Amino acid sequence: MTTFRGVDHVGVGVADTDAAVRFYGQVGFGDVLFDYTGDVPGPDRRARVVMLANAGATPIGPGRIKLVQVLDGDGPPPPPAGGGWGELGICEICLHARGVAGVHRQLVAAGADSLMEPLDAAVDPHEVSLDIAYVADPWQGKLELIEWTGLWKSLPGGPRAEGVNHVAFGVADIDRTRAFYEQLGFTEMLFESTEFFDPMAPWYPGEPPGQHMIMLLSAQGAGIEPVVLAPPGPDCRGEWGHIGPFEFAVGVGNLEQGVARLRDLGVELRGAPQTLDVGTGEWRYAYFRDPDDLHVSLVEARY
Ligand SMILES: [Fe+2]
Repeated sequence: MTTFRGVDHVGVGVADTDAAVRFYGQVGFGDVLFDYTGDVPGPDRRARVVMLANAGATPIGPGRIKLVQVLDGDGPPPPPAGGGWGELGICEICLHARGVAGVHRQLVAAGADSLMEPLDAAVDPHEVSLDIAYVADPWQGKLELIEWTGLWKSLPGGPRAEGVNHVAFGVADIDRTRAFYEQLGFTEMLFESTEFFDPMAPWYPGEPPGQHMIMLLSAQGAGIEPVVLAPPGPDCRGEWGHIGPFEFAVGVGNLEQGVARLRDLGVELRGAPQTLDVGTGEWRYAYFRDPDDLHVSLVEARY
């Protein structure tokens, strides 16, 4: 029986991999697990792909970041236009942080723009407290910082960003998404909100939409935060490898068994499972179709 291991990593499209490696290195993602340049079957692009881990990651922020620079065609596809937050497509990477205000200051010093100053809140239905802040990375990707003060404490120490805590993405039907990802191990709901989150109002080009968001956790790996906007807004899924956060992957211990489980569940694969030699080992993945046709894959990390 396959155990799905939550979100393993979030993929971010970049135009300059070296600059992005330097930036994310300053954010704590200093471990380069592989640095691969070549064909990427599945999406069928030629790309440079760098998998980054954070040595300070704890179980509450275990996810990694994958940088992708598309090299063929016209190069990296531009970011989808008109996105505020929560339109169809991947819209943020959230890092768990110890000391959100301190990490926010560090990121701004490293070249990020502040999108939301640090604030604290508590979320329903469990009244779990948290501190959050947002920055845009130098390529305008939304990077959230969160400290789940009411849920779990970081290891002791100074302010620091850990690994990925969750990934946010826009969907068309929140119940359909919840039912789908529940089958992939995201069984626990940490919060649900149907109220518009006011500090995000400046992010939308026009009148802010209604927001309905939930956060779903898996026993392992990072969580997911699907959002439905009303009205829906533009389609921000974009091409594979577009600049900014564009995909995420669910971890499995064994790709063949993970794929077999998807088949049992009636989930359609988008092409054959792939194994790439990335120098430090093998990157094994299989893209599949979720209810909103987002860029999502299973990954077995052997690197
Ligand atoms: Fe979030």
